[in-house]
Amino acid sequence: MELIFGLLFVLISLIFLVRWRYNYWRNLDVPFIAATFPFGNIKGMGKKYSQFELLKDVYDKFKHNSSPIVGLYYYLSPVIMVKDMELAKNIFTRDSVHFIDRGAYYNEKDNPISAHIFNLDNPKWKTLRTKLTPTFTSGKIKMMFYTVYDVAERFVNKLKSEVDVAVDGEIEIKEFAGRFTTDVIGSVGFGLEINSLDNPTTEFRVHGINAFEKPNHSTLINIFSVAFKDLARKLHVIQVRKDIEEFFQGIVSQTVKHREDNGIVRNDFMQLMIQLKNHGKLDGETLTVGKLTMDEITAQCFIFFAAGYETSSTAMSYLLYEFANNQQVQEKARQSVRQVLAKYDNKLTYEGIKEMDYLLMCVNESLRKYPPVHTLLRYCNKDYKVENTNCTIKKGQLVIIPAYAIQHDQEYFPNPEVYDPDRFLPEEVAKRPTCAFMPFGHGPRNCIGLRFGIVQAQIGLAMLLMNFKFETCSKTVNPIEFKKFSTIMLSPIGGINLKVSKI
Ligand code: HEM
Repeated sequence: MELIFGLLFVLISLIFLVRWRYNYWRNLDVPFIAATFPFGNIKGMGKKYSQFELLKDVYDKFKHNSSPIVGLYYYLSPVIMVKDMELAKNIFTRDSVHFIDRGAYYNEKDNPISAHIFNLDNPKWKTLRTKLTPTFTSGKIKMMFYTVYDVAERFVNKLKSEVDVAVDGEIEIKEFAGRFTTDVIGSVGFGLEINSLDNPTTEFRVHGINAFEKPNHSTLINIFSVAFKDLARKLHVIQVRKDIEEFFQGIVSQTVKHREDNGIVRNDFMQLMIQLKNHGKLDGETLTVGKLTMDEITAQCFIFFAAGYETSSTAMSYLLYEFANNQQVQEKARQSVRQVLAKYDNKLTYEGIKEMDYLLMCVNESLRKYPPVHTLLRYCNKDYKVENTNCTIKKGQLVIIPAYAIQHDQEYFPNPEVYDPDRFLPEEVAKRPTCAFMPFGHGPRNCIGLRFGIVQAQIGLAMLLMNFKFETCSKTVNPIEFKKFSTIMLSPIGGINLKVSKI
């Protein structure tokens, strides 16, 4: 009898606890989506629908509600979706001190490769960002121009030979673009000739992809380690598999040793990081930002690859898909590239790339329609009162900025499904709030590789436009369908198949 009463007591307490949790937003008078135990609002997410689809539905549903935020429940945790542009801007920039972390899990002791700039929390993040920022200036990127150009030339030659043998010229272009960006980051990040263009199963690419597609543990442990970081660290939970970590540690230490022993100097990120390791500042600069350890170099090289290769290659592929569907835009982009090349003796130069305004508009419009990172995250680390509401975002709560939904909002981008690069004419840009377009995030925690990512894509795209024509084919999926399981990346199912012809 006592046992039955005991169980009943536990059950009733649980019901009250769940009810109390799921009344969180109601009690604050914040509009919310009713939740069901145990998943809250995310039942089926990752299988039936992707996070960006859920957020777009919620965003559209509450678009005309006066509240700047909508409350959601991920399992039992209340999370905040921001829908007001002014609030988004304040979270990203003016009040970023409350939201400087992403709330990601890392374990510096057992898994040093996970302690990279994307994951780290303040103040470690700030120290590292200060050290790395000088390596991403326009001057440094200009220095790397020819390294990227060389890979782009190999990319074009490889694609030419593939077109010769492909049935009806049909090519899965995302895979190719992925090999291009892998080789670029392998070269400028690690100082290695990866050559995945010729050898797609090279160890570097396979390990890099596996680090994300075959994580060390299940989603459940992943969620656990994000929710209970200190406990997870005590339990030695690691994010990146040991064999992958050892592989990257091995190649970075070999490269550093090889360069130092033989006095080899190259124009790349690795060289800049070696300078930081040895002197705490970049050669020729007066500002001392502090030294990097070997573990820190490895972790940053790793995240440059992880954060750079898939984002940049999907961005390029989505644009080629839109070129294939909009032949006039494709031709206009080709002509504009030709005009700039003519100014520079028909050679592709860094200065020329900077003048390719129409190509940049095309890139921006495809980043608008298909943001490679569809959802931006901030973790509140200091209570924050949301203006004009009863709500205080509490320390430890997750804040979601639904980039995909905002970039498809009719108010900022009329007929959002139409691909129209003219939306990025300066006078059109001036009409919109800054945060209506956020493919690289905003504020101090934005993408550190933004300029490099754009330049890399422009080099590749300019060379592709000069050498190939892109059309849709029987295998092109129109409109594109996206993977359901990817939490923040917008990835097409089955890649992007196009008909490619040489010109
Ligand atoms: C088209 C290409 C790219 C896109 C669309 C992209 C997008 C993004 C986005 C949305 C974020 C999060 C920003 C935020 O939370 O506000 C981010 C962060 C980051 N990206 Fe990129 N990225 C691209 C290319 C690159 C490249 C080429 C690199 C490195 C070479 C890179 C390195 C990083 C790093 C290290 C972070 C974390 C920054 C921090 O937390 O301080 N990204 N990126």
